[in-house]
Amino acid sequence: MRVLVTGGAGYIGSVVAEELLQAGHQVVVFDNLSRGHRQAVPKNAELVVGDMADRACLDQLLRSRAIDAVMHFAALIEAGESMKAPEEFFRNNTSNALTLLEAMLAARVKCLVFSSTAALFGNPERTPIEEDDPLHPTNAYGESKLLVERMLAWFHQIHGLRYASLRYFNAAGASRPDQGEAHQPETHLIPRILQVALGRAEHVNIFGTDYPTPDGTCVRDYIHVGDLARAHLLALQALENSSPLIYNLGNGQGFSVREVVEVARSVTGHPVPVIESPRRAGDPAVLIASSKKIRRDLGWQPRFPDLKSIVESAWQWHRKHPDGYPR
Ligand code: UFG
Repeated sequence: MRVLVTGGAGYIGSVVAEELLQAGHQVVVFDNLSRGHRQAVPKNAELVVGDMADRACLDQLLRSRAIDAVMHFAALIEAGESMKAPEEFFRNNTSNALTLLEAMLAARVKCLVFSSTAALFGNPERTPIEEDDPLHPTNAYGESKLLVERMLAWFHQIHGLRYASLRYFNAAGASRPDQGEAHQPETHLIPRILQVALGRAEHVNIFGTDYPTPDGTCVRDYIHVGDLARAHLLALQALENSSPLIYNLGNGQGFSVREVVEVARSVTGHPVPVIESPRRAGDPAVLIASSKKIRRDLGWQPRFPDLKSIVESAWQWHRKHPDGYPR
C-alpha cells in the first residue's frame, strides 16, 4: 500500500514508518518538523514538509502520490501542556484532523489509522480499562482526541470511512539504534529520569505524592514503542475486512512514578535523586489498559511487556544520543 504517515518525523510515527517499509509498503511522511526530526524519518520514506492545516497541500499530496491509507500521528501530546493552552490542542489535534478527513473524503481515501490515547478515559471506574468503558477526559488533550474519535464514527457511518483508533497508554523505549524519544522540551517521565542518569539534570520531580494509589504517585501502563508499531500494521491489514476497529494498547500492568524511578536506578546504576512536587494539572491517578480485545481479534502480542526491558532500550538510545537527533 501507499501510506501517508502524518507526524512521521515524530517519536511513534517514525518507528511505524520504518515498520511499514520493512513490511513492503511505500511511505510518504508528512510533517511540519515543529516537533519532529528530519533525521528520524526512515531513509526509504519520502518526506514532505508541510502543515496539517494546509488543506491544499493535503489535497495535492493524497492525489499525486495515489495514497491508499493514512496513519495520523501529527498532534500535540503533552497532557500537562494542554491544561495551560487548550486552544492549541483543539486547533492542532481536533481542527487539523477534520481538515485531514475532508481532504481524504475529497480524494476518496477511505482508510485511516488514528493515534488515540488512554487520556480519553480520565479517571476510570475500573482497572484494567476496556474499550467500551466510559470516556471522561480529565485534560484538554484527551478531550481534543475524543472529539476526533467522535468525528470518525460519523465519517464511518455517513461516508463509509474505514478506520482504526488505537488508544495508546504510555509509549516508551526505543526499537532501533537510530530512532528514539527526543521531545523538545522533554516532559515525559522515562526520558526525564534518564536525563538525570546522564548527568543532564540534577533531579527528577515527582508530580504528586497524594494520589489514591499504593505509594501516592500516579500509576501508568508503559508500552514499548515497537510493540505499539506492530499493532498499527495489524490494524491496517485488518481494516480490509472490518471497520471500525477500536483498541486499547498497553501491557495490563501499572507502575507508579516511584517504581519507574526504581527500575531506572537499577538499569542505569545511577542514584536518580527525586524531589516531591505538587500534582501536575489534569493527571489521572491510574491508567492501566486491558488489551484483551486486540490480542483476541488481531493476535497482537507484545515482545517487550516488562518495564525493565522497555527502560533498558530507552537507556541505550539516550546514552548514544544524549542530545537527541542532530539539528
Ligand atoms: N511525571 C513526573 N515527573 C516528570 C514527568 C512525569 O512525576 O518529570 C509523572 C506524571 O505526572 C504522570 C506520569 O509521570 O503521572 C507519566 O507522565 P508522562 O508525562 O510521561 O505521561 P502522561 O501519562 O502524562 O501522558 C502520556 C502521553 C500522552 C498519552 C498518555 C497515555 O504524553 O500523549 O501518556 O497514558 F495520552
